[in-house]
Amino acid sequence: MVGVALVFSASAAWSFPWSIDMYRGAAVQPLSRAPRVMPDDTMPVNRGEPPMSLEQMTIKMQNPLKPTPENLAHGKALFNNNCAPCHGENALGDGPVAHLLHDPPKNLVSGTSKDLPDGYIYGAIRDGILLMPSYDDAMSAHERWDVVMYVRSLQQAGAAAAKTAAK
Ligand code: HEC
Repeated sequence: MVGVALVFSASAAWSFPWSIDMYRGAAVQPLSRAPRVMPDDTMPVNRGEPPMSLEQMTIKMQNPLKPTPENLAHGKALFNNNCAPCHGENALGDGPVAHLLHDPPKNLVSGTSKDLPDGYIYGAIRDGILLMPSYDDAMSAHERWDVVMYVRSLQQAGAAAAKTAAK
């Protein structure tokens, strides 16, 4: 019995209480040290796209996709979910919540965007404009181009309808 107590007390100096061994390590808290700061121009942002202003996107961004029926259908679904509440299903700027906005959503069919490059519409979606929200995180680049092509198809349909009406 004494022997047992001796063994116990001899080891106690370095191991008792053994139940807190896990506390003794160096405490490393998540993010207690700042993450590595990336040198300029090395960290991809916006899903691999370079940071660009709307002006830069208008000039530089080129639509890499084709207006296939699949892409247009996808663009239509995205447009109806995300854009139609403000811009309206036909993109005339007359969506159901348009009246709540201080500055009304633009008419995308007859407005300035019809005469501007694809990159302008793409940039408007990616960065938002004034009261229009940014769809930077909410849509992938592919999805944004699908919406651009769908908006173009509405503009073409609008132009065709205007021509017929003028006859
Ligand atoms: C919360 C309402 C709202 C939603 C949702 C919205 N927009 Fe807008 N949008 C606006 C407003 C308001 C403007 C006008 C901004 C201004 O005053 O320049 C605008 C402007 C634009 C313009 C520029 C038009 C021009 O003539 O300069 C484009 C293109 C556009 N929106 C496309 C879209 C697309 C595509 C979506 C969906 C992905 C979308 N918007 C979703 C409110 C909205």
